[in-house]
Amino acid sequence: MPSDVTLGIDFGTSCTSAGILIGDRVELIHDGGDPVIPSVVYAPERGPLEAGRPAQARLLSDPACVIRSVKRVLGVAPASPLVRSYAAAAPFRVEASGDHLTFRLRAARYAPEQIAGAILTRVRELAETRFGGPICKAVITASVAAAPGYRDALVRAARIAHLDVLEVVPEPIAGALAVGLHGEQAERKLLVCDFGGGTFDVSALVQSGLRFTPVATAGDEHLGGDDLDLEIAEALAGLIARRTGYDVHRDAVRWSEVVFRCEMAKRQLTAQTAVPFAMREAYVAAGRWHHLDFTLERGWVEERWTPLFERVAIAIYDALRRAGWRRDDVDQVAMIGGSALVPMFQRTIADLFPGPRVVLPARADVAVAIGTVLLTARFGAERRAVPVLGAPLWT
Ligand SMILES: Nc1ncnc2c1ncn2[C@@H]1O[C@H](COP(=O)(O)OP(=O)(O)OP(=O)(O)O)[C@@H](O)[C@H]1O
Ligand SMILES: [Mg+2]
Repeated sequence: MPSDVTLGIDFGTSCTSAGILIGDRVELIHDGGDPVIPSVVYAPERGPLEAGRPAQARLLSDPACVIRSVKRVLGVAPASPLVRSYAAAAPFRVEASGDHLTFRLRAARYAPEQIAGAILTRVRELAETRFGGPICKAVITASVAAAPGYRDALVRAARIAHLDVLEVVPEPIAGALAVGLHGEQAERKLLVCDFGGGTFDVSALVQSGLRFTPVATAGDEHLGGDDLDLEIAEALAGLIARRTGYDVHRDAVRWSEVVFRCEMAKRQLTAQTAVPFAMREAYVAAGRWHHLDFTLERGWVEERWTPLFERVAIAIYDALRRAGWRRDDVDQVAMIGGSALVPMFQRTIADLFPGPRVVLPARADVAVAIGTVLLTARFGAERRAVPVLGAPLWT
């Protein structure tokens, strides 16, 4: 392992990715063979919190003790509407104690920072195992639209994970670096469209040489891959209810499995136009359990998603309006985030911005992490020479 290592971390609502720079090469860490670490935490009956891939597996066995999407409420005041909608969807109690939030699971209470800290601890431990030495420094991302208290809460969470935060990086700028948008010297207007798990974030940036200036942001705080999964799950639940009168939501464990399987199917539908969907003992009809076993077609799913993708276009027009730009003014559009892999998203963006102005990186799902790892080159004793990274990159 190189000496004086800084971990670059993209801390996401549903997924976290991280890595280090070896020479000028980005090495991402893996969790269960995948460079994407689920931002999921499990509170077991006994023992410390579990995070990442092992915690995600608990969604199928003990979903009531699984905490997801903690980033949504990290550093957010308890009175915020975001907290209300988070609490309504959570399978555990979300309580306010003074200015702070706590999650109540079993007999214990956890602050959002502790949950985020458990995810970052998992990231640090995986990185230390992978690279064979202790790591205590990190550069971490934050959304440009983050709540005022978010950065401080993130730094506290990192401290719980024994990581010192050297810099908090705006997600769209890390994404812009990863797709190579810094290669151009001229002044350009960039639109970074980050379609993640929980949110859709649109950032209008002006790039002048190596400096990025965010001029406007817009987005939809309730539009991400999770909503695509839920839309499929609700459509299936509706079909079952109409045919048999059985409400699949009734059983929390089974409902959690339906949603989980819908996410798996959605990912497969990115590469295939039809996929098998199977689940044992999904619903009761005529007094006995029935399995689900059918073919899910991309066309059928996309019809269900149409209203969601209309909101993608609304967020983009909103960002353009706030920046004072017309569609034709935009020189380059970058599509990043795990949900940018969805073909219907790519079509929606291509329809809005015809021509060669749209870039999709090879790994859109980890683009922000790659940019963040590149930015770690700005730190460390030898201040390694990744050409663009010497000067301040954003204003
Ligand atoms: N191949 C794929 N096809 C479709 N969707 C995918 C694919 N791979 C990942 N996703 C989806 O991408 C989402 C996660 O994306 P990402 O990691 O960018 O989110 P995040 O950074 O955690 O969220 P946010 O940016 O909102 O904080 C999940 O909903 C996941 O299902
Ligand atoms: Mg993200």
